[in-house]
Amino acid sequence: MKKLAQKADKYELYEESVQNVEFEVSFYKKMFKKSANRDAVSLREDFCASGKISVEWVKCSSSAISYAIDLDKKILNYAKNVSSADLNTEQKKRLHLIYGDSLSYKSPRVDIVSACNFSYWVFKTRDKLKKYFKNTYKCLKKDGLFILDAFGGYEAHQELEERTKHKNFTYVWDQHSFNPITNDLTCFIHFEFKDKSRINRAFKYEWRLWSLMEIKECLNESGFKSVDFYMQGWDAKKDEETERFYKTRKCDADPGWLAYIIAKK
Ligand SMILES: C[S@@+](CC[C@H](N)C(=O)[O-])C[C@H]1O[C@@H](n2cnc3c(N)ncnc32)[C@H](O)[C@@H]1O
Repeated sequence: MKKLAQKADKYELYEESVQNVEFEVSFYKKMFKKSANRDAVSLREDFCASGKISVEWVKCSSSAISYAIDLDKKILNYAKNVSSADLNTEQKKRLHLIYGDSLSYKSPRVDIVSACNFSYWVFKTRDKLKKYFKNTYKCLKKDGLFILDAFGGYEAHQELEERTKHKNFTYVWDQHSFNPITNDLTCFIHFEFKDKSRINRAFKYEWRLWSLMEIKECLNESGFKSVDFYMQGWDAKKDEETERFYKTRKCDADPGWLAYIIAKK
């Protein structure tokens, strides 16, 4: 008999573990409306993987359009199959799954570019990071927003494993190695199942752990006029993070934090 790990779909497990696309899309819309005083219509989702944010985006309104970009043909194929089942014919026309390098791919100009789950940390030098930021700048409309996320805190500098239990599996975030000289960070995602089977190293990330100030400086040097930080809220009663993010210029030196970075053209 097949083990649970053999039957599982690692992309589905990833989505369940780390993505909340309804939140993501409503946050983008809210940020854009506040900044541009109009509704956002077009999105470019860089490093899109299974394109779940883009699928949610085109479902949200009949004029919404998305360009979802990834370098991995296998995952784009998966995205195509899954979105085909989820979207109607008209919605599918407004979703563009693109095989390309987010570093240099020229899409039509959009209202929002997003780079989620720290994917842009594959660019490990300031030159590369700025090349990417300059490309997104060119792909944004005049009142466009670039939305990125970041994590940090002293735990981000540690080699550790963090387990989160889900109904049918356990998600394991493995900060496998960290070099304090270069800030090179190698991470894995593993999945564990009740029958003791495991998908080991389902995903691997080779990143540089960038600080918020370094990211801001690179954004400014790439042309972005203003850069704001939104830090995740904390529910003291429940002793856990909330789903709200607050614009701030100062925050506590928590062991771990999550932030959105909102850059205006
Ligand atoms: C951490 S996953 C991001 C998944 C998704 N954005 C999310 O929010 O969870 C990183 C993805 O970035 C893709 N990727 C890595 N380098 C890329 C590049 N230069 N251009 C486009 N995609 C890239 C990988 O193929 C992978 O699917």
